Amino acid sequence: MAASSVFRPGLLNHRVAIVTGGGTGIGKAISSELLELGCSVVISSRKADRLEAAAQEMRKRIPTNSPANVTPVPCNIRSEDEVKALVSSVLKQYGRIDYLVNNGGGQFSSPVENMTSKGWKAVIDTNLTGTFYCCKEAYAPPLYEDQVIRKAESILDNYTHSLHNEFQFLPSGSRFKYPPVRTNRCKHSFIPFAVQLTHFSISQISSAVCFLLSPGASYISGATLKVDAGQSLYHSLWEIPDHSSWPEAPDGENLDALKELLKPQSKL
Ligand code: ADE
Repeated sequence: MAASSVFRPGLLNHRVAIVTGGGTGIGKAISSELLELGCSVVISSRKADRLEAAAQEMRKRIPTNSPANVTPVPCNIRSEDEVKALVSSVLKQYGRIDYLVNNGGGQFSSPVENMTSKGWKAVIDTNLTGTFYCCKEAYAPPLYEDQVIRKAESILDNYTHSLHNEFQFLPSGSRFKYPPVRTNRCKHSFIPFAVQLTHFSISQISSAVCFLLSPGASYISGATLKVDAGQSLYHSLWEIPDHSSWPEAPDGENLDALKELLKPQSKL
């Protein structure tokens, strides 16, 4: 759960946000921080009971005298009709939508050859098509005309990055500009991400989202903000000197494998 926000209390008073996948994990942390800043939040996901429990928990933490309110609205973003119903219920309740946080979605790490078309379709239907439905509904022209939407932020990365990340570790990696590497490194290919996912704190993601939604980001648009402690800069050609400030690993073996992976394999 998010620690106390670094932003000024009341910064987002009277704003209204939809956070998909807002009942768990990063979505819950984002919703909690938005509420803390005075923004009303409609949290949505497929599981009504979990959503209601999350809303009750968040309600208890809304500061007294805050105008913020949390409303759980079940919605499967894969269904265009359910997304339409979600958006119209928010407009009915608040008459406005200031922010859309497309957090709902999921993925699983798997080499392409092991992916089933059912798994692929599930990810595409949720992360891509679901996000498209939410953006389309929330950005609908009549809302613009009414000046209801002030700003919506859509946070979506693309599959090219995933494929790119996977193939850079395969012997065929030379097709992707990366130097070819040994086959036995394939088994380590997800280690940096595993370590990264184990060690980031979800409040570090929610504060970045709150920044993007805040007036402080009013001149930022169409940008992708990487919140990865610089890990995307790590590159097999770059020498990362050993140091004593590595993130803690769940066990020593993973950390050693990570260090091994980051060692330069070739030099120009
Ligand atoms: N989070 C993950 N999958 C989802 C879905 N289909 N709808 C809403 N939130 C989700």
